[in-house]
Amino acid sequence: MSVTRAVQRFIESVTGYTVQRARDDRVYNQDGLRTVHSHAFMKDPAFAASYQRAEQSGQDDPIHWRTHIALWAAETASKLQGDFVECGVNFGFQSTAIMQWLEWNGQDRTFYLLDTFSGLDFKYVSEFDLAENAEKKNADRIARGAYVTDIEVVRKNFAEWKNVVFVQGAIPETLPQVEAEEIAFLHIDMNCSPPEVAALDFFWERLCDGAIVLLDDYAYAGHDAQRTAMDDFAVTKGVAIASLPTGQGLLLRPPK
Ligand SMILES: C[S@@+](CC[C@H](N)C(=O)[O-])C[C@H]1O[C@@H](n2cnc3c(N)ncnc32)[C@H](O)[C@@H]1O
Repeated sequence: MSVTRAVQRFIESVTGYTVQRARDDRVYNQDGLRTVHSHAFMKDPAFAASYQRAEQSGQDDPIHWRTHIALWAAETASKLQGDFVECGVNFGFQSTAIMQWLEWNGQDRTFYLLDTFSGLDFKYVSEFDLAENAEKKNADRIARGAYVTDIEVVRKNFAEWKNVVFVQGAIPETLPQVEAEEIAFLHIDMNCSPPEVAALDFFWERLCDGAIVLLDDYAYAGHDAQRTAMDDFAVTKGVAIASLPTGQGLLLRPPK
């Protein structure tokens, strides 16, 4: 037994914790998820290209597995007829990853991108969101440049793609501006529950059979307000939301 292994065993026996080398690439350890399960998708050149394109949007924190799920969801939805909608775009990390992955200019569909492009609108924040520090988190994100405040930066980021429609303003007010009659993919990521539920409710009848709804924060630590609000909505529609270890939630629109 090597000295390293002996030290590892000793620490484990004394502390009760498992010791693992921090730079062991068999371990996925980011974004609140630590696992030894395969994350071979990270070595796929197409995934790497999409992730790199998304990084140009200005996201610092690594979120590879969440992006893998978003790409899988978008690719699955791309087999269906209907437009794509994202509610909560920010600089465009996930939507640019998706557009790169699907070679968007070859897609005969529109991607609607809805955001205030200036952070949360506190007319549409619940008491529960406030109890989870929505106000402070929003102010901090704006202060450190993690939330976009200039839509022109976002427009530039998407300039290479056609069939992109920006809808600026607070959800739910802006929802009627989405002209899509059929929606195959809906990504909801606003970090506050009332506009998230309002968006899902508004688009519900327009979601095509089997449409994919991806909820970015459904199971994420510190986002219980969003999860419980979505669960309440799901009950009214007789559907269930899968809770993913990435912190996301996944919902399929049942056939009408
Ligand atoms: C976590 S960010 C979205 C991240 C984005 N999906 C990505 O891939 O990087 C949350 C966004 O929701 C937006 N937002 C929050 N409340 C909103 C509302 N009521 N209407 C529209 N946008 C809202 C914020 O401006 C912010 O850009």
